[in-house]
Amino acid sequence: MATDSLKVLTDKSEIFLKKFENGIGKFSANALNKHVALYSHLLQEANSIANEFSQYLDNWPSFQNTEEEPSKKELVTSKIGQWFSLYGKIASHELYFSSLGRNGNCEGKIKELLEINFDSVVRFKLDFKIKALYSTGWVWLVLDHYTGKLFNLSSNREDAFPFSGMSPLLAIDLVEHAYESDFGSDKEGYIEEFFNALDWKEIEKNLPIM
Ligand SMILES: [Fe+2]
Repeated sequence: MATDSLKVLTDKSEIFLKKFENGIGKFSANALNKHVALYSHLLQEANSIANEFSQYLDNWPSFQNTEEEPSKKELVTSKIGQWFSLYGKIASHELYFSSLGRNGNCEGKIKELLEINFDSVVRFKLDFKIKALYSTGWVWLVLDHYTGKLFNLSSNREDAFPFSGMSPLLAIDLVEHAYESDFGSDKEGYIEEFFNALDWKEIEKNLPIM
């Protein structure tokens, strides 16, 4: 029986495709569908590594202390690193897709937290937007458990989310494939439309119970 040691991830494409069937604001259904397909591809890649790793565990006793063992070990180490990198991208895409879907109205608990941490929602958006404009990967709104504060973290293209000690609440994808077909080179227009299409009620659900 294969052991589920590297987590086998659930593909949520169907949920996202249904939500995006008529597009969201200026995000076309076609562009969103292509983006979901890309997410699904990353997920299949990660699950294929997870399955490979399970087989390694199942067969490990048979090549322990054999000539094969060092090369297998090396393979497993590089695959685990690759899996974690994919996992960061997959989790960020899920956060991004699940955040889209309403009218951008920010209210309730999450609004209060943004005001406490950034002075105002407008100021939060400005901080997020500037970081997003200069990022080639992702910007996440996170809750840092060490300080108890919210802040916006940005990354370069290949960086996965640094999950340690933080809860990601919201993510924007800044790789060209996320906006080129609907917005061309108008990255700022894309970021503004992202704010307009946010579902803050859904985002609030990402707050951990404290
Ligand atoms: Fe993406």
